[in-house]
Amino acid sequence: MIILNGDATVPPNERLITHLRHVDLAVPDFGREFAFFTETWGLKAENTESGLAFLAAEGSPENYCVRLREADQKRIDLIAFGAATSADVDKLAQRLAADGVRLVTEPDVLKTPGGGYGFRFFDNDGRTIEVSSGVEVRRHRQVEEGESIPVRLSHVVVNTPNPEATVEFYRSHLGFAVSDTLMHPRMGEMMWFLRTNPFHHSLAIARGPHVALHHASFEMRGLDEYLRGTGRLLRAGVEKVWGPGRHTAGNNTFSYFLDPHGNTVEYTTELEQLDEDTWHPHLYDFTEPMVADQWGTANPMNELVASKSFNDPDLGVFHAPPI
Ligand SMILES: [Fe+2]
Repeated sequence: MIILNGDATVPPNERLITHLRHVDLAVPDFGREFAFFTETWGLKAENTESGLAFLAAEGSPENYCVRLREADQKRIDLIAFGAATSADVDKLAQRLAADGVRLVTEPDVLKTPGGGYGFRFFDNDGRTIEVSSGVEVRRHRQVEEGESIPVRLSHVVVNTPNPEATVEFYRSHLGFAVSDTLMHPRMGEMMWFLRTNPFHHSLAIARGPHVALHHASFEMRGLDEYLRGTGRLLRAGVEKVWGPGRHTAGNNTFSYFLDPHGNTVEYTTELEQLDEDTWHPHLYDFTEPMVADQWGTANPMNELVASKSFNDPDLGVFHAPPI
């Protein structure tokens, strides 16, 4: 079984990353950010101390899907992925080091909630990435009908001025495969959806003016819960960037909002799961209305909407977080 991966072929057993674990953010106004994610967005603070919070999604066995850290300046601290075994963690660390990728930490026991075994490295743009295995499973529960809180972290999208290099980094070093690409008739290819398991994407790379977080997306229980969540945020007066609607790439629904620090966060549901043996990547023109929003319910995607997701230049580039 071979996965078609653009012009390269990657045997699936070489894919050492199993899934997305969490996204970690540093913010100056910790109290406001914490209140937003717990009281409005619907995550649960499982482990918190002064200036540090680990927020879980009720439906997910992950110990946390968002970490908030109080800092003088806003930045992305970390994006974390899972591996199946400690041997895979070691193998990946050795392979990256041999390929000249800068490791931030060597594989070791993790001191974060749930423990486990992992290491950190800088990707080609300087983001700090963690890969871990053996993290304790959290006692989670089924999200109930009508409950408009996140089930799990769905995907993370990052901006970079060098998206071709970043896509190649994640393909060649980490075994991600391109599921689909979005293009603009004048601007060319703009966004690449990358998978590391049958979910259409766990990571996407967007062309942007600088390295930054584009958005973090949270899977809701279903359409009803997704729309209830969207309405709840609107009533709470949270600024909506784009949505509600349904994308063609990934076939998932979308409602994008801004957190108190201008990071875009998304409620989504029904993200497509692919048959990887038969999947052929598409190149979609996102100026086609049916590509951007199959339902036609979202506000038009224009440059103002796009610019909201450029975010501030990330100050964490090639500068690992202190914890
Ligand atoms: Fe998304």
